[in-house]
Amino acid sequence: MLGALADAFDDWCRTSSIWPLTPAADTASAVERFYDEYLASPFRDQAGGSRFNNLLWLFLLTRATRPSLIVDSGTYRGASAWAFANAEPECPILSFDIDLSSLARRTPGVTFLQSDWATHEFTGYDLSRSLAYFDDHVDQGRRLEEAAARGVPWLVFDDDFPVTSFVSMAHDGNALPKIEFLLDDGLRGVSTISWERNGREIQWPIDHQRLERLRTLIAATDRLPNTSLITGIHQTPYRLVSTAIK
Ligand SMILES: C[S@@+](CC[C@H](N)C(=O)[O-])C[C@H]1O[C@@H](n2cnc3c(N)ncnc32)[C@H](O)[C@@H]1O
Repeated sequence: MLGALADAFDDWCRTSSIWPLTPAADTASAVERFYDEYLASPFRDQAGGSRFNNLLWLFLLTRATRPSLIVDSGTYRGASAWAFANAEPECPILSFDIDLSSLARRTPGVTFLQSDWATHEFTGYDLSRSLAYFDDHVDQGRRLEEAAARGVPWLVFDDDFPVTSFVSMAHDGNALPKIEFLLDDGLRGVSTISWERNGREIQWPIDHQRLERLRTLIAATDRLPNTSLITGIHQTPYRLVSTAIK
């Protein structure tokens, strides 16, 4: 299983041109090490946070990207922050949550901040090779705009669902648009998306001008490979975006 996961990552690295990647030669042993540390971590318990497949992708992506700064938006129990710190202990990692009361491990090297990242002053940090991970149930268009405005080139989005399957992660429309909506030409002629949730109809009028503006902020995008069948852990593969920084 661990070998197949390492191969999936190495194969993806060979073909992806989303952003500059320099994978280390030892993916297989890194995956083994990460697996052992995951088994000993508090994040093995399923409690709504990231699970093994996606944490492994964060770990391997970070090793191959070697960012100058990592922003982890949506700390929850601290699993994603822990995965980042495992990959790059020397890299500054800022983990943001509006409520840090669920934090299960205060991983050394990570700065935990009880706030929204958009209110933070990044003075003194090198953002030119920064990576931001959004797993915070916030409008992904807003996150894309904020990242582009701050000059963050590399973005990872969790919970990016197409219009056919977004409902459980729509948060009554507050988590819309998803990046998928920006890429969906089928939505161009549509004025409102509506769905039913807990017996209630929710409507989300599409602001096409905004979607058009948001599209210009994407220089390139990719969906990571689905490794669910390797582990039996079913998770939505991450959306990667390379930001068009003006
Ligand atoms: C799915 S959890 C994050 C899981 C975590 N990244 C992990 O790897 O296990 C979503 C978190 O986003 C937080 N959140 C909600 N609004 C936020 C905001 N505006 N900024 C940062 N975090 C936010 C919630 O409090 C919650 O803890």
